[in-house]
Amino acid sequence: MRVQLKGDAICTLCLVVALFTILYSQLSHMSLREEQAKGQRTASGATHKGLHHPTALQRQPEGRVMGTGPRIISVVKPSEEVNEKDSDPTLPPSINSAFDFRNYLRNKDNRQFDLLINQPKKCSRTPGGPFLLIAIKSLVEDFDRREIVRKTWGREGLVNGAQVQRLFLLAIPKNKTTLPTWESLVHQESLMYRDILLWDFLDTFFNLTLKEIHFLQWANKFCPNTKFIFKGDADVFVNVENIISFLDGRDASEDLFVGDIIYNAHPIRTRKSKYYIPETMYGLGMYPAYAGGGGFLLSRSTMKKLSQACGQVELFPIDDVFLGMCLQRINLKPVLHEGFKTFGITKPSAAPNLQTFDPCFYKDLMVVHSLKAAEIWLMWNLLHNPRLSCTQKKQVKKTFRWKIKTKGTTNYFGT
Ligand SMILES: *[C@@H]1O[C@H](CO)[C@@H](O)[C@H](O)[C@H]1NC(C)=O
Ligand SMILES: *[C@@H]1O[C@H](CO)[C@@H](O)[C@H](O)[C@H]1NC(C)=O
Repeated sequence: MRVQLKGDAICTLCLVVALFTILYSQLSHMSLREEQAKGQRTASGATHKGLHHPTALQRQPEGRVMGTGPRIISVVKPSEEVNEKDSDPTLPPSINSAFDFRNYLRNKDNRQFDLLINQPKKCSRTPGGPFLLIAIKSLVEDFDRREIVRKTWGREGLVNGAQVQRLFLLAIPKNKTTLPTWESLVHQESLMYRDILLWDFLDTFFNLTLKEIHFLQWANKFCPNTKFIFKGDADVFVNVENIISFLDGRDASEDLFVGDIIYNAHPIRTRKSKYYIPETMYGLGMYPAYAGGGGFLLSRSTMKKLSQACGQVELFPIDDVFLGMCLQRINLKPVLHEGFKTFGITKPSAAPNLQTFDPCFYKDLMVVHSLKAAEIWLMWNLLHNPRLSCTQKKQVKKTFRWKIKTKGTTNYFGT
């Protein structure tokens, strides 16, 4: 009886996965073609994904060693840099050859842009402000991704007793001919959901740093009462319940910056690489510790300090690294947490998709990067199925500890 039930469940799951894969590939085929051609994203539709791994090559071996079990391997291929050549049509054709560093340096004092759509009451609607403000980088044209996030992990309201609010961070789309009515659409979306911030600069890879700066300024001004902030991409799955239990009992007036921290990364000096940074732009041999772009958590106190510090640090085209520079400026050490999987998780290629969709696996994580919209939707629904019971939970749980075990030390992060 049990075996049969299990078999049925697996079959259903297979079918659902197959259905969504087909649906999604149809969708992305239709809507992403132009974007791919102009180099806005990779085949998976992840926004600005490439730049979140400016040092993917160096980090790769480390990521494997740090994996929390044999089931986790990084989805970033070691050959990513090589792949970038023209032979791979899914990747942007050599962004850097087109990127004008000299022009960037010349214009980098131009760093104040207007806020075109604001949500000034976002954080004053609930007494005492939100416990957690979720801020998600998104592109104007990615309406479907925002919808999925709204319906799944980005839901507003009470989560395990904690007040959660949500925002999407947008800027001007680079190619206006793709969506000529974008302005009225975004205004409508904002009226409907009250979760849109739109700034008046071009939404490009190298302007993500501007998003970082402007969001921190916004939070400092319009959301000074939030206790914590999660900032991430629209292509991540976030286990908000785990994040809340991790934050439970913590003091928002103390510093906190947690994520998938990358240490000792070197700037890439190979011109061909899309992560190429010339020495004129960054002379040192190593970047400060920074959080991988999938998402990170910070406290109110850290938000305030960072919004100050980032206003003073010179613009740097890789936003993750830029934030690392701001952290360094305020002398705050970001903390690595095993629950953040910036590089996504996947299963060895020999087997089908099934294990990646084991909800019990996601149950113990906080952030998983590089997921398709349908995958996020499916995972959220599987995880919130009241009948979900995880037999392997104990085994997985060994490597993670959410609650504070001891006070004032850092040894409860990681293993
Ligand atoms: C913008 O998109 C349109 C169609 O979506 C395409 O024909 C055009 O070449 C694109 N322009 C740029 C500058 O990428
Ligand atoms: C950033 O946005 C500004 C304002 O729209 C634009 O002039 C500039 O070219 C953009 N920079 C990059 C590197 O895309």
